[in-house]
Amino acid sequence: MGTTRTQPSTPAMLASVAIAALVALPMAGCRGDRSEKPPRQFFPDMDDSPRFNPQAPTDFFADGRAMRAPETGTVAFGAFAFAAETLPEGADWALPFLRERTDLLAENDAVYTGLNRDGTPVAKMPMPVTAELLARGQERFNIYCAACHGYAGDGKGMVGRRWAAPVPSFHDAKYKDQGQPIAGDGYLFHIARQGLRHPDGRYRMPGYAHALSVEDTWAVVAHIRVLQQALDNDPQSLPPDARSQLDARGRSTQGGSR
Ligand code: HEC
Repeated sequence: MGTTRTQPSTPAMLASVAIAALVALPMAGCRGDRSEKPPRQFFPDMDDSPRFNPQAPTDFFADGRAMRAPETGTVAFGAFAFAAETLPEGADWALPFLRERTDLLAENDAVYTGLNRDGTPVAKMPMPVTAELLARGQERFNIYCAACHGYAGDGKGMVGRRWAAPVPSFHDAKYKDQGQPIAGDGYLFHIARQGLRHPDGRYRMPGYAHALSVEDTWAVVAHIRVLQQALDNDPQSLPPDARSQLDARGRSTQGGSR
């Protein structure tokens, strides 16, 4: 079929190419350019979609408020702690669900609480320690704990040195002797999540359960163990082959050979 057609009309083709180029040029010109001028917006409503600030007024809704009340009969996520003691009046329907959840968690309670059934902290973390977990733990520790506890865990972080309560060093023997409850992995987990209070209720150390997932918290605990070992290990205590590896690595990074 195409073979029966003669040459397409050249001026029409040229015109359409020219128009396409005209449209494409200014658009291409904005890609990757750096400029102090305000950006060109071809579809401003997509760049700056309308939204309301919290607590702001609006004439869109009859009551003049941008924020809407929750639907009747619904509960906003996180609106109350989901525990039997704190259930609102008339919420008995939730009790079976609560029991179900408690039973589910009981399967592996220690992962979520760091505690044994009798309430004592677990000695060893109930989670496999992998290279990924350690890397994650180092990153989270440096973000959330190092300000006070220091990158080395020595309690000499920038904030820690000026903090109202003295910040302990994780290299202190009492945090290392696994025989004591205060040194168990579960205890570190618990403190990291719940923090520590003065007897008068004020926080000496804030808890980080809002920022660290359960797995992240165990990762931080694993990193604290790494810090403890890193600072305290005497190279002489290593097996001979590990020591010679360490020596070789030390030689290759010393003496400005790079
Ligand atoms: C704002 C400062 C601050 C930050 C941030 C902080 N801590 Fe602490 N931490 C403290 C202070 C202060 C104490 C000592 C509290 C006391 O003596 O009652 C402490 C004590 C501890 C203890 C020992 C508790 C004990 O009973 O001796 C552990 C474990 C601990 N912190 C873990 C962490 C972890 C893990 C993080 C990060 C998720 C963290 N902390 C972040 C200030 C901080």
